[in-house]
Amino acid sequence: MNILAIESSCDDTAAAVVRDGRTVLSSCVSSQIEMHTVYGGVVPEIASRKHVETISGLAEKAVSDAGLSRNELDAVAVTYAPGLIGAVLVGVNFAKGAALALGLPLIPVHHVRGHIAANYITHLDLKPPFVCLCVSGGTTAIVDVRSYTEMSVLGGTRDDAAGECFDKVARVLGIGYPGGGPMDRLAQVGDDGKYPLPVGHVSGAELDMSFSGLKTASLNLIHNSEQKGEVLDLPGFAASFGKAVSDSLVPRVMAAAKMAGYGKIAVAGGVAANSRIRADLQAACARSGDRLFLPELRYCGDNAAMIGCQGFYEFQAGHTAGWDLNAYATRDIGVG
Ligand code: KG4
Repeated sequence: MNILAIESSCDDTAAAVVRDGRTVLSSCVSSQIEMHTVYGGVVPEIASRKHVETISGLAEKAVSDAGLSRNELDAVAVTYAPGLIGAVLVGVNFAKGAALALGLPLIPVHHVRGHIAANYITHLDLKPPFVCLCVSGGTTAIVDVRSYTEMSVLGGTRDDAAGECFDKVARVLGIGYPGGGPMDRLAQVGDDGKYPLPVGHVSGAELDMSFSGLKTASLNLIHNSEQKGEVLDLPGFAASFGKAVSDSLVPRVMAAAKMAGYGKIAVAGGVAANSRIRADLQAACARSGDRLFLPELRYCGDNAAMIGCQGFYEFQAGHTAGWDLNAYATRDIGVG
C-alpha cells in the first residue's frame, strides 16, 4: 500500500511516500528556519503562508522521487493535530483536495503518534507494546504504546516542553534558533559539573516533570553573569543544562518502563537527537536490560515519512476521515 503523507504542523513543510508502513520511498522536507530565525522563533502566520506556497510542489516531488505516478497511490495521510492551527489547516486542506481528486481514502494522523512511528522505519523488528519517551518542541511525555493505535500518557511535563526550554535558553545566549542542536554541540566539549542546575520534581506524580524551574534558573544565571561582567563558560553551561534535562527525563522513562514491564523503550521527537540523552538512555538500558530503540537523526525532527508509517497502521485499524476532517491545535494522543 503506497501512502502519500503530508506534514505541516509547525515550521517544516513535508511530503513523503511510504510503502506498507515501513518502507520510505521518498521523504521531502522544506525547512522554514531561515525565515523565522530573524524573529528568534516561529511566527505562525509566516509559517502558514510558506506552507501554502510550498506544499503542492513538494507533494509532486515526493511522488516523483518515489518513482511512482499519481495513480499508483493508495491513500493520503495527513497530520491533523496537534500544532500551530493555521499551519495544520494548510496540510489538512491540501490532503483533502488530493484525496478527493485522486479518489483515495484520507487518513488523519496525530503528530506525536507519527514521531513514535519514526522508530518503525529504522527498527523493522520493533512492534508494540513498548514505552516511548516523546520529546520535541511542543511535547514532553512518556507514552504507553500498547498497540499501533492504542496509547496513553503515563507522565509528562506540567509546564514547558524540553525542546522549548532548549530553544528559550539558546535564544537568550544568542546561539541560534532552534537552540537544541547548537546547545548539544557546545555541550560535547563542556564540563557538565560546571553549573549545578535544578531538576524539577512533581511530588505525588513521580512520572511527571517540570522544566520551568530549570528555564528560570538558567536565565537568571545568564543574566547575573552578564550583570557582574563575568564571561559565562558556554560549553560548561550547555553541558550542565543538557545534564539537567537528561536527569529529568531518563530516570522517569526507566521507572515507567519498569512499571509497564515490556522490556522495550523507544524515543521520539526533535529532542531525541540529543547526544547526552541518547548516551544516558543507552547506559541506563545496559544496566536494566531493556532494549532501546532510537530513531535515525533524520527522522527525529518533523518529517512526513513518520506520518506515512503511522498512517498505514491507522488505516489498518479502520481509522479514515470523512471530507469534514478538521484540524486541531491540541489533541490527546489516546484519541488518535
Ligand atoms: O520534533 P520537532 O522537529 O518539532 C516539534 O514537533 O516540536 O522538534 C523540534 C525541537 C526544537 O525544540 C529543537 O531545539 C529540538 O527539537 N532539538 C534538539 C536537538 N535537535 C533538535 N534538542 C536537543 N538536542 C538536539 N540535538
